[in-house]
Amino acid sequence: MIEDQKKLFNLKENDHYLNCAYKAPLLKTVEEAAIKALIRNRNPADITPLDFFKVTEEVRVLFGKIVNCLPSEVAIIPSASYGFSSVLNNISCSKGQHAIVVENDFPSDYFSIKKWCDTNNAELKTIKAIDNLGFIGEVWNNNIINSINKKTAVVILSSIHWMNGLKFDLESIGKKCKSVGAKFIVDGAQSVGVLPIDVKKFNIDALICPSYKWLFGPYSLGLAYMGNCFNDGTPIEESWLNRTNAIDFSNLSDYDPEYNPNAGRYNVGETSNFILMPMLKQSLVQVNSWLNSDLQDYSKELIKPLISYLINLGVKFENDTYFSSHLFSLKMPKEFNIELLKENLIKNKVYLSVRGNSLRVSVHLFNTPKDIEKLMEVIELTKSTNRTSRVNIK
Ligand SMILES: Cc1ncc(COP(=O)(O)O)c(C=O)c1O
Repeated sequence: MIEDQKKLFNLKENDHYLNCAYKAPLLKTVEEAAIKALIRNRNPADITPLDFFKVTEEVRVLFGKIVNCLPSEVAIIPSASYGFSSVLNNISCSKGQHAIVVENDFPSDYFSIKKWCDTNNAELKTIKAIDNLGFIGEVWNNNIINSINKKTAVVILSSIHWMNGLKFDLESIGKKCKSVGAKFIVDGAQSVGVLPIDVKKFNIDALICPSYKWLFGPYSLGLAYMGNCFNDGTPIEESWLNRTNAIDFSNLSDYDPEYNPNAGRYNVGETSNFILMPMLKQSLVQVNSWLNSDLQDYSKELIKPLISYLINLGVKFENDTYFSSHLFSLKMPKEFNIELLKENLIKNKVYLSVRGNSLRVSVHLFNTPKDIEKLMEVIELTKSTNRTSRVNIK
């Protein structure tokens, strides 16, 4: 199995960063690419017309390898919300059709599909998570699949739930969407790069990925796979870079009516982004180099002691089929003092997200057993401490 890759990052020795789901730490190589790019921008005379396209094209190739698509099917986007708008603006709706979303999906997903429904006078169906003896995965997935029918225009969901890591059965949902002619839009923010995905096998029509989490890219630059059904669509903006003659700088005002073929028409304006794009390229080079390692096995081994410890405390975990080892939530027992736990986590430099009575833990190759041990120590000491004393473990 792959070893930890902490050496590739500039993380502080005593920090325990269990929050890649919030934002990935910067890889050393990505930091170097940023500095190099910044210095290069001192003198724009060095930037040639070809430089407006070269790195972008390399990035499209690298992302295609991660999700199994052609570079021409990849668009450069600045955010997930931008990607959703690009896609939804090109999905039509007939009278009586509806859209499907899952309960508590990420706000960018929810607001985008809500707007599409309002614009098209379509019903938005929210499929809720139903607790079945402490498990939600199987029933939730079945209910999503069963709710898709000939009246479904769009299904939008995160590849795994962003709050608790619950896995959605993308292959079965995609198959059902295809059988009824519904468009299948997937938000890959919380799994692409760390959990295998295949847009063709799963019949995904659009896969929208910000890059700053599991793809280790810079904030404000993301990637989208756009299936064939969007080949003739209309982009949000009219960027000169998205015309087929853009490389010909001396004749740009011979206004070219043709957009770039396929997904290239949806690239965000100023696609070339001379600082962020080289960073994104470097991050994707790294993610590609990990593609053949079983990253889920690494996380699974890493969190094993934590899971056993918490099961003994009465914490319940989802059935294996629906559980993501890189992102999961710990629903602490009711009597547990969450406020005190939060204070102790910060005091002991353990970084994760707290949502209500749940802790969202997310791990990757930069985490080592020390991080997990520290988290367990903080939970254990909080459990046996009252409100007045805070614990600082040496
Ligand atoms: C599932 C999911 N989608 C999207 C995003 C980011 O959305 P945007 O790029 O619109 O800011 C996040 C951020 O946490 C997320 O968890």
